[in-house]
Amino acid sequence: MSSVSTQYQRVLSGMRPTGQLHLGHYHGVLKNWIRLQHEYECFFFVADWHALTTHYEETSVIAPSVMDNVIDWLACGVDPGAAKIFIQSHVPEHAEMHVLLSMITPLSWLERVPTYKDQQEKLKEKDLATYGFLGYPLLQSADILIYKAGQVPVGEDQVAHVELTREIARRFNHLYGREPDFEEKAEAAIKKMGKKNAKLYKELRRKFQEQGDHEALETARELLKTQQNITLGDRERLFGYVEGSGKIILPEPQALLTKASKMPGLDGQKMSKSYNNVIALRDDPKEVEHKLRTMPTDPARVRRDDPGDPEKCPVWEFHQVYSSVDTKQWVQDGCRSAGIGCVDCKQPVIDAVISEMAPIQERAEDYLNDPKLVQNILNEGAEAAREVAENTLEEVREVMGLDYD
Ligand code: TRP
Ligand code: SF4
Repeated sequence: MSSVSTQYQRVLSGMRPTGQLHLGHYHGVLKNWIRLQHEYECFFFVADWHALTTHYEETSVIAPSVMDNVIDWLACGVDPGAAKIFIQSHVPEHAEMHVLLSMITPLSWLERVPTYKDQQEKLKEKDLATYGFLGYPLLQSADILIYKAGQVPVGEDQVAHVELTREIARRFNHLYGREPDFEEKAEAAIKKMGKKNAKLYKELRRKFQEQGDHEALETARELLKTQQNITLGDRERLFGYVEGSGKIILPEPQALLTKASKMPGLDGQKMSKSYNNVIALRDDPKEVEHKLRTMPTDPARVRRDDPGDPEKCPVWEFHQVYSSVDTKQWVQDGCRSAGIGCVDCKQPVIDAVISEMAPIQERAEDYLNDPKLVQNILNEGAEAAREVAENTLEEVREVMGLDYD
């Protein structure tokens, strides 16, 4: 059984397999995951059920995307030795967690999640008035809570889903964290920490409850994380007891906001499949070169000797991601004086993008040639994930009264 201190350090994130990954995913999501995997216990999964909520009429894109996405994660440096990588539907515990949480979820909480209406508006061509789509954010809550993840790296658009998850966790703990003899059990647990720590815990608890001192609350939590002599159940009790509530069975996660990717698309908008402005991680170098050669520049530069303004040019945004200070200066001067042409200006970007992608594509090729290896990674990931998920579920079933042994 892992200790609360590692539990609360867990990081979990998922990605919907609905197409090819592109440079925006690499710079905006994957580089972040790759950094986190060395700092935390990480769980990264392909959310194939979430893809079904919007793609139930075109399910054929899902399976190839699942494999391609995983291969691209691996090729970019997500390390199966450091992070658990798996497919959501290989861990059916998520579904049981979802159904159990659905029992306590007020319909209005789901109806007011902004993505519910937004996506229905945006994806008008699809009928998203389904039970599955309404439950999308709750399924996400189940994904998160089943690992007791402390941090969830997501983009801006997903913050409301993490917020819902926090509310669900609070409601769950409120409903099922109560025990008839909670107070006695908590007091007994305090004693087990030893005189010094017990005294400190009580002091911090008083400071929080009497004066609302949040620093004391944090310190108390830190103190609990380091206690070796108490059981997991006692720790959950004492987490709750500082705040005056019941046991904290499902801890509230934090959104770890991924800064908006600096990766621009070929047209200067954010790189996104729906804007049709992407460089896919699998595009071959010829295609990459073609896309960059034909991308728009400052519209004021009609002829070679018209001066331009990098601020009005998407190529400049690529330079900001890829170029050295010197090259950027060369662009600024050359563009404004018409000293360089747009073809010249694009060359360093073309070179940089292609050389960034080369090792990724090479590694992807290795995985593509060895599907067994990818299967093994996914099987091992699912196995490790299920072990953690099953532990949480056992606890959840028990407190919900579904314990018939
Ligand atoms: N909804 C997320 C997205 O569209 C994907 C996702 C599913 C997810 N489950 C998750 C992200 C759990 C973080 C945690 O990007
Ligand atoms: Fe854009 Fe470079 Fe052309 Fe200036 S010179 S308009 S920055 S591509």
